[in-house]
Amino acid sequence: MGHVVIKNLRKEYVERRREPRDGSRGSHQGDTLAVIDGLDLEFRDGELVCILGPSGCGKTTLIRILAGFERKTSGSVLIDGREVDGPSADNIFVFQHSGLLPWMTVGQNAALAVRRMANKQEMATRVAEAIAMVELEGFESHYPHQLSGGMQRRAELARALVANPEILFMDEPFSGLDALTRLKLREEVINMHELLEKTILFITHDIDEALIMGDHLVVLGDRPARIKVSERLDEPHPRNLTGNPRLAELRKQLHRSLGVHFAL
Ligand SMILES: Nc1ncnc2c1ncn2[C@@H]1O[C@H](COP(=O)(O)OP(=O)(O)OP(=O)(O)O)[C@@H](O)[C@H]1O
Ligand SMILES: [Mg+2]
Repeated sequence: MGHVVIKNLRKEYVERRREPRDGSRGSHQGDTLAVIDGLDLEFRDGELVCILGPSGCGKTTLIRILAGFERKTSGSVLIDGREVDGPSADNIFVFQHSGLLPWMTVGQNAALAVRRMANKQEMATRVAEAIAMVELEGFESHYPHQLSGGMQRRAELARALVANPEILFMDEPFSGLDALTRLKLREEVINMHELLEKTILFITHDIDEALIMGDHLVVLGDRPARIKVSERLDEPHPRNLTGNPRLAELRKQLHRSLGVHFAL
């Protein structure tokens, strides 16, 4: 489960033109913007895939198509052999910065995916385990606004843990957090991935973050998004970026593929 196959994917947006001011009818057709074109990609079951690419290249668009929130123009997207044709609450969880419901406590937010479970005891155990794993014990009755930014992301991680999806989508989940909190949350995601062995698709702008976390690293090129790098890594965690020749070489390759030549 959690196997994704993308074939010859194309996505274009139609940009509506405004009516001309002179009152003539003008064109309603609009311009089309091809954001993704001819994209072939496969995510193996249980892989932690990190996607990098310049701003505006179509990373968020890709996740939205995979999650069924956005329609593709053509091509095929199969998740566990089934074509994606709309949002699927069962097997997919999309991690969002502000995904917590403000009127619910941390405990209630974490329990969202299992709130209809018949066995309330099991439900409570699952929620308690997830909250312990993200180190939020003692904050179960707090509301999101009473938490720091880092704690809010932890609570959102707990929610994902409880939901236990086949695929977890994370679009720059730690943006805006301080460097230390970010490092700790990275560890949480790595631990979570090792524990659950589910497919995670993680978008980041941080090359080192991708190298530290990913089993499969993908760099997308400028619009329309095409693959510039797709490398699988089976280095164990924790990873040493400077002492490991394979990682050091890949680090250079990733920088170059993103047009950075001076940071090497
Ligand atoms: N709903 C939409 N309608 C029209 N154009 C859109 C829409 N959503 C995205 N785009 C365009 O598609 C392109 C890709 O956007 P997308 O958000 O997927 O980029 P991204 O790779 O996630 O960028 P970033 O790294 O800045 O988050 C951009 O040029 C954007 O303007
Ligand atoms: Mg984006």
